[in-house]
Amino acid sequence: MANQTESRKKDHVNLVVDKGAQYTKTTGFERVDLIHNALPEISLFSVDLSTKFFNKKIHYPILITGMTGGYQDAEKINKSLAAAAQKYGLAFGVGSQRAMIEKPELVKTYKVRDVAPDIPLLSNIGAFQLKKYPVDQIDSLVQSIEADGLAIHLNALQEVIQPEGDVDFGGVLAAIEKVCDKLSVPVIVKETGAGINQEVAIALKKAGVKYLDIAGAGGTSWSIVEYLRGEGVPGFEEWGIPTVECILQCRGVLPLVASGGIRTGIEGAKAIALGADMCGAAYPFIKALQADELDSFIETFQKQMKVCAYLTGSKNLSDLKKAKMRFL
Ligand SMILES: Cc1cc2nc3c(=O)[nH]c(=O)nc-3n(C[C@H](O)[C@H](O)[C@H](O)COP(=O)(O)O)c2cc1C
Repeated sequence: MANQTESRKKDHVNLVVDKGAQYTKTTGFERVDLIHNALPEISLFSVDLSTKFFNKKIHYPILITGMTGGYQDAEKINKSLAAAAQKYGLAFGVGSQRAMIEKPELVKTYKVRDVAPDIPLLSNIGAFQLKKYPVDQIDSLVQSIEADGLAIHLNALQEVIQPEGDVDFGGVLAAIEKVCDKLSVPVIVKETGAGINQEVAIALKKAGVKYLDIAGAGGTSWSIVEYLRGEGVPGFEEWGIPTVECILQCRGVLPLVASGGIRTGIEGAKAIALGADMCGAAYPFIKALQADELDSFIETFQKQMKVCAYLTGSKNLSDLKKAKMRFL
């Protein structure tokens, strides 16, 4: 029998894929132009955007952010996405492992190392769960899937709209600090689409967090997802800090993954030039997977990033980080 967490995870994937559940508000990337270099003085073929993430080499600075696990079909989704990450040299995160705390045999729906032995792999748990479970148990989630890091997700917006959601964020920062201190792997804290601002980024850095995924507004809206699932305090469809604003606020505080509404490699390249170290996305990967277009989506995304590097005269990621921009 599926428990509540399992059926919720299944609803989320189905609703997002079928209905979209995207913000009307934009990320802000449409107001950022990379400045064209008419004389790039490099060959497109010499552009190399490889980098290291969680101490592992990847070919492109792209993270497929955590989405699923914990119900039968999720096993296939995680394995397909992870295998693509292995094939194209990207990083990958599984979705919340809460379901397997409640039902340990669900671990098989998160395990991907057989198809993705070399990639940076992230475990995932909600910040609320850290208050409930000891660090040893959280560590066993990481170990059970041989992950390189733990992504702790912040989803206050989603929980407050969800009829059965947790609404007491008191003590979450202290719980994050404890996990950072005792866990066997580094911690990345991510939002889920409503964004992280500078004040929060600084507090997380002080707590011992090593990376941030700012997951700003402009892509998947978790309030819309929850409205599609049922009742909730109305009016919060557009709540959240746009992705570009999050990058500008958080750059320099910690190594950054920029995500939330990134749909093309051009937006990914803009995110890097704005100050992120990696770009990431969830929705377009699951959408492409379900449409049987995952390979072509990733190939196009990578080519777009490479062409942006070429047309700004950037041979590598550190050049792309310094690419000139104009705000429209
Ligand atoms: C179907 C789906 C399920 C998700 N489940 C999780 C999850 O379990 N844990 C998590 O940290 N984020 C989860 N997310 C949030 C994403 O990782 C991401 O932060 C957010 O969707 C914004 O990125 P996007 O606009 O590219 O989708 C999920 C996203 C999608 C689309």
